[in-house]
Amino acid sequence: MAMITADPTDVPVVVDFQFTPEYLALAREQIAQYPAGRQASAVIACLDLAQRQHDGWLPRAAMDYVAGLLDMAPIRVYEVATFYTMFQLKPRGKHLLQVCTTTPCWLRGSDAVMKACREATGVAPGQVSADGLFTTVEVECMGACVNAPMIQINDTYFEDLDEASTKRLIAALKRGETPKPGPQVDRHTSAPEGGPTTLTTIPGGAAPLAKS
Ligand code: FES
Repeated sequence: MAMITADPTDVPVVVDFQFTPEYLALAREQIAQYPAGRQASAVIACLDLAQRQHDGWLPRAAMDYVAGLLDMAPIRVYEVATFYTMFQLKPRGKHLLQVCTTTPCWLRGSDAVMKACREATGVAPGQVSADGLFTTVEVECMGACVNAPMIQINDTYFEDLDEASTKRLIAALKRGETPKPGPQVDRHTSAPEGGPTTLTTIPGGAAPLAKS
């Protein structure tokens, strides 16, 4: 990867990008899932691979490379990369804190989660923390509403959060730990807090469903 000075938007300009042999093999696997001539259907998968190879963000050079790989007009790739919040268009911290603030999460306290992220990382959403570890972004519903409010950190969901548990998560990441994913309260997946209230035994007399 070659990098030159920042452009006016403070996004480093990367002048070339290409998949490593390992990532190219993964891209070819994705492309092979579609009929001949329909390789553009693999654009999201290829952009995701490019982002993973490139420290979690997509420079324009990577989008152009994917366009060439899939025989697409670059503008078609830019349209996809700029539409989906899963694609980061500028450098981000090692841990991407994607905070859901859609209505169910908001009603259940996503404002407190956002506040905790700001205070624990020391930077506003969209910025990289001084230690290079964190970037917070606000996103729309990620399909875990029953465990609201929640954060996706890189590829992992953390649910049933409040201000204190969010700060604990961030502190653990700062220490280099791997926090337990899923609910951060006493419940198993999406079962009631404190344990099941119905169907407490499995037919046949088996033990009650276990908590997480
Ligand atoms: S509203 Fe937050 S996960 Fe659905």
